[in-house]
Amino acid sequence: ASSEPEATLIEAGKLVDTVSGRVLENQMILVENGKIAAIGAKSEIEGMTLPDGVKRIDLSGYTVLPGLTDSHVHLIGNSNLHGYKSLSESTPSAAIYGTVNARKTLMAGFTTVRNVGAPGFADIDLMNAIDEGVITGPRMIPAGRSIGITGGHCDNNLLPYEDQKTSGGVADGPWAVRAKVRENNKYGAKVIKFCGTGGVLSKGTKIGAQQFSFEEMKAIVDEAHLLGLKVAVHAHGEEGINTAIRAGVDSVEHASFISDEGIAEAKTRGTYLSMDIYVSDYILSEGEEAGILEESLAKERTVGKKQRERFQAAVEAGANIAFGTDAGVYPHGDNGRQMKYMVKWGLTPMQALQAATINNAKLFGVEDMSGSLEAGKYADIIAVDGDPIADVSELEDVDFVMKGGVIYKAAE
Ligand code: ARG
Repeated sequence: ASSEPEATLIEAGKLVDTVSGRVLENQMILVENGKIAAIGAKSEIEGMTLPDGVKRIDLSGYTVLPGLTDSHVHLIGNSNLHGYKSLSESTPSAAIYGTVNARKTLMAGFTTVRNVGAPGFADIDLMNAIDEGVITGPRMIPAGRSIGITGGHCDNNLLPYEDQKTSGGVADGPWAVRAKVRENNKYGAKVIKFCGTGGVLSKGTKIGAQQFSFEEMKAIVDEAHLLGLKVAVHAHGEEGINTAIRAGVDSVEHASFISDEGIAEAKTRGTYLSMDIYVSDYILSEGEEAGILEESLAKERTVGKKQRERFQAAVEAGANIAFGTDAGVYPHGDNGRQMKYMVKWGLTPMQALQAATINNAKLFGVEDMSGSLEAGKYADIIAVDGDPIADVSELEDVDFVMKGGVIYKAAE
C-alpha cells in the first residue's frame, strides 16, 4: 500500500448508494484523513475549493461502491486443514496463516469482517497488527473464543477421553458462560459468538440438537449486552434458532433449518440472518481432500439445499439479511462468490450488495462509520470495471480497494 496522501479526489463513473439503493452517475468523492470529506455530483465537488496537492484518481470507467463486509469469517488458520488434519495446527501457525488470509480478504474488496471464533485470542492480535499498520488486512470485529457446551460444536471432540482436548470457550451453566463472556471481553473481543446447536464440521454433534438451555443463552446475551457487545449464535436446527432469538441474539449464523415461526420472530425482533449459502458447494466438492470427516460430508448433504430454500423464505418474508460466508472453511478471498447465490435464491443484486454493506454495518453497530459512501464515514471504497447491478458476480473480481483513505489495490 502507498502511504496515505493528504487528500484524494476520486472520480466515479457510476456510484452505488447503498442507502437509497440507487446508482448515481458522474460522482466525486473527496477523501481526507482517511474519511470521506465530501461526496456529490462531479460539477458540485469540482466547484469546491479543493485541498492543495490533492491526488486525483480516475475511476470514470468504473462502478464505485462502499467496501464489502462479511459477518462470518475465520481468518485464523490454514483453510486446507479440516478434520483430523486440524490437530496438527499450532496456534502460532494458525496466526501466521491469518496474516496471509487477512491480506487476501482485503484485496478481494472486503474492508470489514467479523471474525467469529479463533483459538488463543489470535484474532485480537491480528486485529491489533492490522490497526497498527504492521500487516495488511480488513478492519476486524473479533470474537476471541467461541463459547459452547462440553462436547458441542464449539468444543473439539476429535480425541478420545485419555487424550482430552477442550476448546477455550467451553463452559456449562449460566454463571460459567457469563464468566466466558467477561473473559473474552477482557482479552479484547468486540463481538460474542456462541454455539446454539450442533454443526456440520464438528465430530459427533447433531445439526438439529439445541446446545445450551434458554437460561444459558439468556445469560450469554445479557452479559454481552451489559458490556456493549453484540451476540452471534451458530445455529442450524429449528429449536436452537428459536430459543436463541428469544434469548435476544443479534444475529443467527447459518440458520439452515429456520422455521416460518423463527423467521417471523427474527423479523419482529430485528434479528439478522447470516446465512452462508455458498460454502456447501465447496464442502461437497473439495471438502474430502481437505480432511473433512465423512460424517460431516453426510451432514452437509442434508443441509446445503435446505438452507438455500430457507434463505429464500426469509427473503420473501422480509427478514433482515446479513452477508456472512464462513470463509476459512473455503479459501479466503473468495467471499464474493456468495453474491450470485444470494441473487439466485431471491435477492436482487442491489439487495445482495446492501446485505454486504449497509445491513452488515447496522448488525455490527458501525453504520455511523461504514456501510455506505457518505461524508464523515471511513473512506473504505472499492470499484469494479463491470456493472455489478447487472451481474453481481462482478464482485468476485474487485479492481480497486481503498481502506481508510489508503489505496491497497490500484485500478489498472
Ligand atoms: N461451520 C459450519 C458448521 O460446521 C459450516 C456449515 C456449512 N454448511 C452450510 N450449508 N452452510 O456447521
